[in-house]
Amino acid sequence: MERLDKYIADRTDYSRKDVKLLLKKGAVTVNGKSVTDAGMKIDPEKDRVKAGDRELVWRRNTYIMLNKPDGYVCSTRDGQSEIVLSLVPDDLKNKDIFPAGRLDKDSKGFVFLTDDGALAHRILSPKKHLTKCYLVRLAEKYSEEYEDAFASGLTIDCGEKCLPARVCGVSHDDHFSLVGLDEGKFHQVKRMFSAVGNEVVSLFRVSIGGIRINPDLAPGECLEILDNEIEKMLSEFDFSDVRKFVETSFYLLLTNNDL
Ligand code: URA
Repeated sequence: MERLDKYIADRTDYSRKDVKLLLKKGAVTVNGKSVTDAGMKIDPEKDRVKAGDRELVWRRNTYIMLNKPDGYVCSTRDGQSEIVLSLVPDDLKNKDIFPAGRLDKDSKGFVFLTDDGALAHRILSPKKHLTKCYLVRLAEKYSEEYEDAFASGLTIDCGEKCLPARVCGVSHDDHFSLVGLDEGKFHQVKRMFSAVGNEVVSLFRVSIGGIRINPDLAPGECLEILDNEIEKMLSEFDFSDVRKFVETSFYLLLTNNDL
């Protein structure tokens, strides 16, 4: 059973505030009857909910963690290159699955695929500030000076200004760094390191919001993410937790993914 207001906000582009207004206006119906109680418990498999002009149809969505290898593109079709969808096994695949967010063709790591358009919209929305973390191998040694530069919002090439970002070194190897970004400009990590005089040799996405990649997942392999973990992805992020995870799993990530 789920709270009515949360059920609607999770499955539409209405915010919780919009849902409150719709309820107040009597524009929400459950099984044809107008409802104003935001906390009403509904059974998504049985109850028919309408909010404004939108009918919410229940179906189980698919959520996938892919460990993207080098050489695949994050789009639904591409004439030239292999696409990440070709790595999804048949038992997880359906025609509506797509990658929610992109990694460059030569980047590796966590790509989230789903058939849940509303959730993908929330993940990609700049307003949600879902932090994505990258483990980066650098051409030159990491410098602690990057921390203030990244935190104050770097200006990258063409004068583009970045949001404040977090960065730290990795104790095992001074050519590695962990970066946390709340946005996703084109080639952003590469351009940020280039702005501070360094160069990205390889880039691996470690986490999206509160979900970290399974370090045992081989390149090209997928795992299904369960519904209860999706909530964690949206709400529980802590940079120092990701840092601890990287420190602990460093050699496993390195060798499994040829970083
Ligand atoms: N930043 C980059 O430069 N490349 C990626 O693939 C992701 C973030």
